[in-house]
Amino acid sequence: MPNPAPTVTLRNDVEIPQIGLGTSGMSPADSLRAVNSAIEVGYRHFDTAQAYGNESAVGTAIARSGLPRNEVFVTTKLRNRSHGLANARLALDRSLRELGLEYVDLYVIHWPLPMENRYIETWHGLERALEQGKARAIGVSNFQVEHLDRVLSAGTVLPAVNQIELHPRFNQAHLRRYCADHGIIVESASPLARGRSLELPIVTGLARKYRMSAAQIVLRWHIQSGTVALPKSTTPRRMAENHDVFSFSLESRDMALLDGLRADGRINPDPRRLDSTWAPVEP
Ligand code: A2P
Repeated sequence: MPNPAPTVTLRNDVEIPQIGLGTSGMSPADSLRAVNSAIEVGYRHFDTAQAYGNESAVGTAIARSGLPRNEVFVTTKLRNRSHGLANARLALDRSLRELGLEYVDLYVIHWPLPMENRYIETWHGLERALEQGKARAIGVSNFQVEHLDRVLSAGTVLPAVNQIELHPRFNQAHLRRYCADHGIIVESASPLARGRSLELPIVTGLARKYRMSAAQIVLRWHIQSGTVALPKSTTPRRMAENHDVFSFSLESRDMALLDGLRADGRINPDPRRLDSTWAPVEP
């Protein structure tokens, strides 16, 4: 049995495995197969969302694995149409039904939709879910500094995570620093830039130096940066490779090389502009 991924500790002492399987863009059939294979190669952390349309498949694969509930970490996200205090409760109840679970380990607001100005109300809905034990931890996704500032001042519970697009071509140094200063763990969505980080000459050079794959170099950069990485794959061999990034470390000068890559390569929608008309694909 492969080793489980090491964990990091969220602000309320919940432990989150540092590698999880991202499932955005996966059909229900693909998600069922992918989660099943991922469990076989050692994954215990799965990231889904109401907007992905695959919660039921993810839940089915977990149930079929027979793993005890407390050995699996499951995250889902509140879809854009469910912003608001009462909607947040209904949305989580629906996700729990789809997943076939009594609680999720982490529940996050998928996008802030600043133009609708409802994310504070929604956040209070998540606080209630935490209080009721329907989520072990709560957080946000795609939130920028100005959105986090408002949640931090209005909330009675502070976000445990912020899941954001993050990869060496878009390293979000400022937002990461803000999160670190406020005890918010960063989760990296699209950590491989959907494969586009893997052909960067610096990455392929480091892959040769360390005798690891390009994906392992990029994921190791995430891990050593202190983030939780959520690589997607439907290929069991790649899933295994992506989970196997804890037996080597990058020297600090190589971390610096990756940190120094051009940082303007956003590939997912801009959270400041994305509104509820968006048809979900990524992240
Ligand atoms: P596949 O599903 O065919 O393995 P991200 O997590 O940044 O969104 O990237 C996901 C994309 O990267 C998918 O297209 C996936 O393809 C590909 N991918 C995932 N892991 C690897 C890997 N180890 N090597 C090469 N490509 C990978």
